[in-house]
Amino acid sequence: MHYFEDDDINETSVVGYIPTKTEAIGLLQKLNLSKNIINHVLAVSRKAIKLATQISIIPINLKLVRIGAILHDIGRVRTHDFDHAVIGGQIIREELKISEQLARIAETHILGGISKEEAKEFGIPEKDYLPESIEEKIVCLADKYFIGVKKVSIEQRFKNWFIRYGENEFLLRSKKRVEDIETFIYKLMFP
Ligand SMILES: [Fe+2]
Repeated sequence: MHYFEDDDINETSVVGYIPTKTEAIGLLQKLNLSKNIINHVLAVSRKAIKLATQISIIPINLKLVRIGAILHDIGRVRTHDFDHAVIGGQIIREELKISEQLARIAETHILGGISKEEAKEFGIPEKDYLPESIEEKIVCLADKYFIGVKKVSIEQRFKNWFIRYGENEFLLRSKKRVEDIETFIYKLMFP
């Protein structure tokens, strides 16, 4: 017979180092991330934790959610373009050398994630950037509820992008992905 240890039923296991909140904010400041964006990531982090703590039927690593949210826009120290997510992943993985799971959260947060085929189309390193883990999905979704620190609906968030880039096929597909993530998360909250 298999007896569960406490560790078995607790949380998503973490590989690699997860900085503390103070360390994570310190990293962003050291890289000169603007105050506006730091305020944004803190708002996203609060929302992400709020979502995560309402889910009790599956294990979620709250530390990963909190720090992943704080670091999700780290790529903006280099560019505000669409590829800031991929660049953020690279900074976390190759320069900071902290948990790979944090790199994944950063690179999968953009829109509703990017598929391997889309990555190829956009000329970014060809791999799958769709949010898979519960922590990745929560941060991706929480980010969609904000424009800066202003709370918005997914509808409003995408309306802004549609105005800027046109209601193209890719953005429509992204919106559907985010709505699917929202449905998935809410079903976990209210099973
Ligand atoms: Fe963001």
